[in-house]
Amino acid sequence: MDEPRLDREHWTRVAAEWTAWARSPKHDAFWAYREALVAYISEGSGKALEIGCGEGRVSRELKALGYQVTATDTVADLVGAAQQADSAHEYAVADARDLPFAESSFDLVMAYNVLMDVEDVPATLREIRRVMRPTGQLFISLVHPFRDRGSFTSSEPDAPFVLKGTYFGRQRFEGIEERDGLQMHFAGWSQPLEAYSAALEKAGFAITSLREPIPDRSEGQEHLKQWARVPLFLWLKARPLLHAEACHANFR
Ligand SMILES: C[S@@+](CC[C@H](N)C(=O)[O-])C[C@H]1O[C@@H](n2cnc3c(N)ncnc32)[C@H](O)[C@@H]1O
Repeated sequence: MDEPRLDREHWTRVAAEWTAWARSPKHDAFWAYREALVAYISEGSGKALEIGCGEGRVSRELKALGYQVTATDTVADLVGAAQQADSAHEYAVADARDLPFAESSFDLVMAYNVLMDVEDVPATLREIRRVMRPTGQLFISLVHPFRDRGSFTSSEPDAPFVLKGTYFGRQRFEGIEERDGLQMHFAGWSQPLEAYSAALEKAGFAITSLREPIPDRSEGQEHLKQWARVPLFLWLKARPLLHAEACHANFR
């Protein structure tokens, strides 16, 4: 029998909530960053894997950019929703720590707002490294590590952003967001940027690019104004280190 997993259990419970939340036009922050995201990934024709695809919206963007996309998630209902929306070319229900693919299968791996949700980031990155071609690229979007450790003191555009407790250490987060008649129960682990960077190094990746995107000014997204002052997301690109580079990085 499968061992119980907090991440899979949580997302199985909220799968229907997430599908409604993510598919409601311009409802969440994704839409205010979508154009910048598409420009940052840019067109390509290789084999792309998305881990934690949810209902499939990021896979649909990759497909529109020309990639041959495999969409995966640990929750069967979400993979079903992605498939129903024709989000990719292939689908698999798979935990990101144990992917059903051969070594060196993919040119691009997309981990969009999923590493905060997985229980074991180092094991997930090692598994991503295994299925990536040596010339491949990993794209990561995180809810910015600062975001979970503080909040704005009011909804005023210039309200101070106040840090609660410490930025450092790994902490469980859990909270319910409600807007326009929809509700979403988020839960995961927040960790400082250094934890992700160290896990990437250990798994044999080098960060090649980093962005702190700001939201565009789309209509209906006024609630995101404050996130033009403090970053809400962090985007990284990383490439596999060559064997000799990886040995050097892990001995320093
Ligand atoms: C915040 S949603 C993001 C979905 C999609 N990437 C998007 O941005 O629309 C996080 C997703 O990660 C998935 N997930 C959580 N833990 C996972 C794991 N260990 N392996 C694979 N997927 C996982 C969840 O089921 C959920 O679909």
